[in-house]
Amino acid sequence: MDNDIQEVLFDQDSIHHAAVRLGKQITKDYAGEEPVVLSVLKGAYLWTADLLREVDLYVKLEFIKISSYHGGVSSTNSISLVTDIHSDVQGRDVIILEDIVDTGQSLLFLKKLLAERGAKSIQVATLLDKKEGRKVEIRADYIGFDVRNEFVVGYGLDYKEMYRNLPYVGILKKEVYSD
Ligand code: PRP
Repeated sequence: MDNDIQEVLFDQDSIHHAAVRLGKQITKDYAGEEPVVLSVLKGAYLWTADLLREVDLYVKLEFIKISSYHGGVSSTNSISLVTDIHSDVQGRDVIILEDIVDTGQSLLFLKKLLAERGAKSIQVATLLDKKEGRKVEIRADYIGFDVRNEFVVGYGLDYKEMYRNLPYVGILKKEVYSD
């Protein structure tokens, strides 16, 4: 897989440091609270495992699956809920964990859903923030790294369901997805 990568942007070490930094901040900000952590599958699976191990709080971990990219390299406008959670978020503090915020449409969809269900507060911790990609006005509260407008894979992020298991985030070579 390494041969398909044009440039490594964030290696294992820098991702670990980001998880430690944000984990400490979340632990401090939510001291005494028991937030619901909502991990957005599939992309956030590694970030969830690494970040949460740096969070010293009693959390309730939930997984939700939505879909926006549909296997291609750019977002579409349609977001669908693939697998829902079954627990009640009414009156709860919710922290959404994302691997990347790009257009912001997935996050907007989730924030609306949680607000409709009566969440007390909703914050977002994302590994990557691609601000140039935004199509809706929305921001993350905890950000690992800003990332430029390139197609990135690895550490949860996929191209046609591949590369999620790369231990780092890198730019995919154009020839890989332009054949
Ligand atoms: C990706 C990513 C975010 C979303 C961000 O998920 O994990 O959830 O897209 O894009 P946006 O800000 O443009 O909405 P995707 O729908 O590709 O599913 P996946 O996590 O299973 O790869």
